[in-house]
Amino acid sequence: MVSAPEPGPAALVRPGRVHRRIYSDPAIFEREMDCVFGQAWIYVGHESEIREPGDFVRTRIGRKPMVMTRHEDGRICVIHNQCAHRGAMVVAEDRGNAAEFVCCYHGWTYGTDGRLARVPLRHGYPQDFDPEDPRTAMVGAPRVASYRGFVFASLAPDGPPLEEFLGHMTTSFDDMVDRAPDGEIEVAGGIFKHAYDGNWKLYLENLCDAAHPLFVHQSSIAAAHDQDDDVHTDGFGEIAVRQMRQNGAPYKFWQEEVGIWTYPNGHSFLGDYHDDEKLVAAQRNPVFADYIAALEAKKGADEARRILEVTRWNSNVYPNLSFMSQFRQLRVIHPVAVNRTEVHTYSFRLKGAPEKMFEDTIAFANVTNGTGSLVLTDDLETYGRIGAGVTSEGAEWIQVGRGYTTDLPDDHGGVQGSDSTSEVYIRNMYDAWLGYMAAE
Ligand code: FES
Ligand SMILES: [Fe+2]
Repeated sequence: MVSAPEPGPAALVRPGRVHRRIYSDPAIFEREMDCVFGQAWIYVGHESEIREPGDFVRTRIGRKPMVMTRHEDGRICVIHNQCAHRGAMVVAEDRGNAAEFVCCYHGWTYGTDGRLARVPLRHGYPQDFDPEDPRTAMVGAPRVASYRGFVFASLAPDGPPLEEFLGHMTTSFDDMVDRAPDGEIEVAGGIFKHAYDGNWKLYLENLCDAAHPLFVHQSSIAAAHDQDDDVHTDGFGEIAVRQMRQNGAPYKFWQEEVGIWTYPNGHSFLGDYHDDEKLVAAQRNPVFADYIAALEAKKGADEARRILEVTRWNSNVYPNLSFMSQFRQLRVIHPVAVNRTEVHTYSFRLKGAPEKMFEDTIAFANVTNGTGSLVLTDDLETYGRIGAGVTSEGAEWIQVGRGYTTDLPDDHGGVQGSDSTSEVYIRNMYDAWLGYMAAE
């Protein structure tokens, strides 16, 4: 008997529901690597990581190992980390500076733009071997572009330009960079790396989920309430304590005070759920006052006020990036297998801001992104439990319908949740997913 063909991706997404295979089927994962990660603009790194000619960092597009380089002519190149001879990965260091890349196996040597420069035993290859052939290189991604220092690459030769792909989300990148008095930010302070036994999509599905903190983060909320405000700092409260306490805000607050906005291509952002008394500010904190003074000196009082009045929490750029402009945090999602995901998190320094602001950034990174963070570990446990749960044969359809009937249009061509606990941002990601997955 001939078995029926597997249904296509469109059969796995229904209004307000997705099939659990989306998180557990290796064949779906393989198709995602080709169709989503092979087509979309993928965040590969920040320009500050490759300032000087010869600077490089290893990165990935989906599972593919890539290298982002600054070539001698100043160009940013994103090249496949594969030797054209017998396929060895050429660059093994995470980052560094090099005049050339030399393969460890037989010494084929490449320029920092990926072009093949030298081949030992050149005379031994057949007459028609052409080292100038662009296919005999560390082949470059067909498209590379950056927006305000954030570098993206696409493996698809055709598609929308980067700014069109980002759409209204450019304003979140603007918010991140505009906060620097000198108009520039840089990666600083090291990188946290963590992994979980669950699907890559779960990560972005959590970062705009306003219904989970009160429940998932109960233990750290309780621990934070036990702390004395003045234990750690000079009367303004430890940033970790403020953050964790606010995770315990009542549902009514999450529903009414936060806001969730979504945009084409799967992107979204969640509003801030703190106020200045609770977190960012520490507006009464002398360090923050020095920062505001530096911002006003460079940008003027009106522009400084406009910048500081933007309050966004996580901005998600589908499919592999989430960042938080107020705390200069950025997370990059690397799919490894259908039930294995790695996440790298970065902190940024605001140029021209007092150094203590960066210390706050690091403190915040330790709270939210650090491998030993009381908050992150709760979330990782949840992703692992979903990874395990979706392999069972329980409920076939996963519910993503909260707020489905009350979504609203937004002023910038997107869709807004009528309250912040809406799962509109997940449905929005599946709209984008279907567009990629259904493409030939
Ligand atoms: S595999 Fe790279 S030189 Fe042979
Ligand atoms: Fe969380």
